[in-house]
This record gives sequence, C-alpha cells and structure tokens, in this order.
Amino acid sequence: MKNEINSIKIAIMGAGTVGGGVYKVLQMRKDDMVQRAGTDIEIKKILVKSIPETRKDVDSSLLTENFEDIISDDSIQIVVEVMGGIEPARTFILRCLNAGKSVVSANKDLIAVHGRELLDAAEANHVDFMFEASCAGAIPIIRPLKHCLLGNNITEVMGIVNGTTNYILTKMDQEGMEFDEALAKATELGYAEADPTSDVEGLDAGRKMAIMGSIAFHSRITFDDVYMEGITHITSKDIKYAKDMDCVIKLLGIARNTETGVEVRVHPTLIHKTHPLASVNDVFNAVFVHGDALDDAMFYGRGAGELPTASAVVGDIIDVARNIKDGCLARNGCSCYKELPIKTIDEIESKYFVRMLVEDCAGVLANVAGILGNNEVSIEQIIQKPAGSGTAEIVAITDVVREKNFKAAIQTLNGMSFIKEMSSIIRVYA
Ligand code: NDP
Ligand code: HSE
Repeated sequence: MKNEINSIKIAIMGAGTVGGGVYKVLQMRKDDMVQRAGTDIEIKKILVKSIPETRKDVDSSLLTENFEDIISDDSIQIVVEVMGGIEPARTFILRCLNAGKSVVSANKDLIAVHGRELLDAAEANHVDFMFEASCAGAIPIIRPLKHCLLGNNITEVMGIVNGTTNYILTKMDQEGMEFDEALAKATELGYAEADPTSDVEGLDAGRKMAIMGSIAFHSRITFDDVYMEGITHITSKDIKYAKDMDCVIKLLGIARNTETGVEVRVHPTLIHKTHPLASVNDVFNAVFVHGDALDDAMFYGRGAGELPTASAVVGDIIDVARNIKDGCLARNGCSCYKELPIKTIDEIESKYFVRMLVEDCAGVLANVAGILGNNEVSIEQIIQKPAGSGTAEIVAITDVVREKNFKAAIQTLNGMSFIKEMSSIIRVYA
C-alpha cells in the first residue's frame, strides 16, 4: 500500500570522502528526487567525530557530534553509515535498526564480520539494510547478485576489487613509480582506507570477497574464512618478468564454489595480457561472475573515490525511500540458506610463478626440476639466466598443481645449500 509521504528525512553518519560525496550527489539530484524516489529526501543531521574539522562542502548547521541527536529523532527514517570501522558503527547501526530506522552502509569491515547480525536485526524490525557501496565502489554488484542473477547456480566470483592496490600496481607497471609514491597518491585521492594496510595487505579485498561470496553462493563466508596476501612484496623486477611473459600482476580476489567446498582468496596474480582483467587499470575495479545459466558476465567501473562511491550509496537511499513510500521494506534480508564447507588454502589448485637465486654450477637446474617433480609439481616453463658472482636466476611457471604439494617442494628447496634466495612466489591465473 502506498504511503502518503512528501519528504523522507535522513541522517548521514560520517562526512569524510564518502559522506561528503553523498551530500554532493543528493544536491546534484535535488530537482529530480521526487520523480526518482517518489518523495523528497531531506538531510536532517550529519554526524562527525569533531565539528571543528574544516568542512567546506556541507551545510554546517546540520552537523552534530552526538549520535543521540539522530536516534532520538523519530522523523529520521533512513540512516547512512559512512564512518567506517567496527565500533561504534556496529552499535549505532543496530540501535538504528532496532529503533525502526532503515540503514544504508558502505562499511565492508563491519559487514564482512557482522553481516548476518545486521541483516537479522533489519528483518526482525521490518526495515531495510542495504550496502551496495561496500563492494567495488560505484559498480552495481550486490543487487545483481541478490536479484538479477538469482536464476543461476553461481560457481565463481572473481575480480579486481581494491582500487588503491590496482592504482599502485598500474603506476609501478606503466610509469615506473615506486610503491610508496603510488600509495601516497592513492591516499591523497581518497581511495585508500583510513589505515592503508587494509588495502596493501589484501584485507579490504578479502572483506569484499567474503560479502560477495556469501551472497553469490547463499552460504555465509566471513572475513576469517578468506586467505589473504597483499602486494607489498611485489617488486619492479617481478613486474618486468611478468611483462616478459606477456602477463601483468594484479591483486585478484577469487571465490569459487567447487564440488569439494568453497574457496575464497585474495593474492597477487600473474594474468595473461589478453585477459579482460589485465586491462583494468588505475582505480578501476572489475568483477567476473560465472553462473550455469548466465555463462560469464563482467562488471566494470570505479572502485573507490568520493562521487563513484556516493553513486552507490545514493542509489541505496533512493531504493529504501521507495520501499518506505510503497510500504514494502525488508524484502532483502539475509540470503544465506546453505552451510557449505570452506576449503583451506592448502587444498586449492593453481599455477605458480617462482623466481630463485641459485649457485651457478652443473646439475642445479636438474636438482630444482627433480625436487619439484618429486612433489608432483610439473613445470610448464623454466628459464635460467646468469646473475653474476657465481649465481644464476631460475624462473619457472608450474602447471596447475595442488598448493600443498607446491609448498612442500618449496620447503625442500629452501633447505638446499645451492639455493641462495627464494626471491618471489606468485600464483598464476588458470
Ligand atoms: P573518512 O575517514 O574519509 O571519513 C570518515 C567520517 O566518519 C569522518 O567524517 C569522521 O568524522 C566520521 N567518523 C569516524 N568515526 C566517527 C565516530 N566515532 N563518530 C562520529 N563520526 C565519526 O572515510 P571514508 O569516507 O573514506 O570511508 C567511509 C566508509 O566508506 C568506510 O567504511 C570505507 O571503508 C567505506 N568506503 C570508502 C570508499 C572510498 O573510496 N573512500 C569506497 C567504498 C567504501 P571527522 O570528519 O570528524 O573525522
Ligand atoms: N580503499 C578501498 C579501495 C575503497 O581502494 O578500493 C573502496 O572500497
């Protein structure tokens, strides 16, 4: 039943990169809001940690440092959480949901750990909890997974889902920029998390993979279930070797629903330059989805930043406003109805790129090949180059092998006196 509402009041918790962007996009759409949402949308309060911070872009009369101003205002029906972090965000959101307010959030840190609790609270209180911006910024991916692709059995969700690291790897590859310089630039542009360790160590991408995997496979995956490896050990030498092999290095998130369980991992990956993901550069993200009816689909767009992220948040706000207006809140509760087993990283299968410095003497290459072979690690290609001072560099790419076997081979190699340095190990997309 349609409700007679002319204006829906909202509060925004956070006025940083994303909060500021949400404010701007709502101003940009002001004249069309009634037509798009069926009602006007009015910002009543903006919560910040400290009002004296310089805020050139928002109406300062709306600012408050006190969450009680929001929770106690019965006219506020939608609360937008763009503060970040676990607490107090979790408590504030739960209090809003329990008070009958719908919530829109971009907070993957929180959702990847407490998603079920928040969705259950929304359902129990018959309100909406939406989080499109939590995964891959501007790219619509939560809604497609939750709605448009429901006719499928989805077996793979894979992609580049962290803008900061993709920006860094692109700058290192294309402009020869150093890691620290590229990270500083990504931070300046508002792409990086408050603690950029989350970006460069793969945690941010891991959170997004947990959220997308849960929805795609209808089985709860939390942050702790995800194997994560960052890009801090990637060197310009690795990037150059990748180029020589017609590949690029990307931080890939891979979630697969296999017959033996679900695997969810994030790690730097060599990917052939002809693969569509190889040309996803700068802050752009892309997500591949494979379903039994769909076949393949790729979603591409800006994965971070003020307006792109706000684009997803405002889409959610308008959707909730429509649901309030149409009297159909709480249609999008938790969609996890299965309990699939999660595989450990040792159980996965992949190709591996390995680069090592060895003693340059007769029989070493044969020994390396022998140790790999003894562990059932077959080699796709191997090269050896002199590296000076009586050493040589061996670079090999394996066939698809089990991670457990590959690790056993590396452990044995590391114990050999002819190995001077195990310089680099990177998984290869297969
Ligand atoms: P910022 O650090 O730029 O902004 C955070 C805002 O929240 C600030 O205004 C801050 O107040 C306020 N805040 C933080 N803690 C509190 C608190 N305890 N009480 C009241 N206010 C608080 O973060 P972003 O805008 O970059 O990110 C916000 C969220 O969006 C995060 O969850 C992030 O992961 C997510 N996200 C970010 C993207 C991006 O591109 N930046 C993309 C997609 C998602 P004050 O200004 O006073 O410090
Ligand atoms: N820090 C994140 C990124 C923001 O770089 O992708 C978007 O979630």
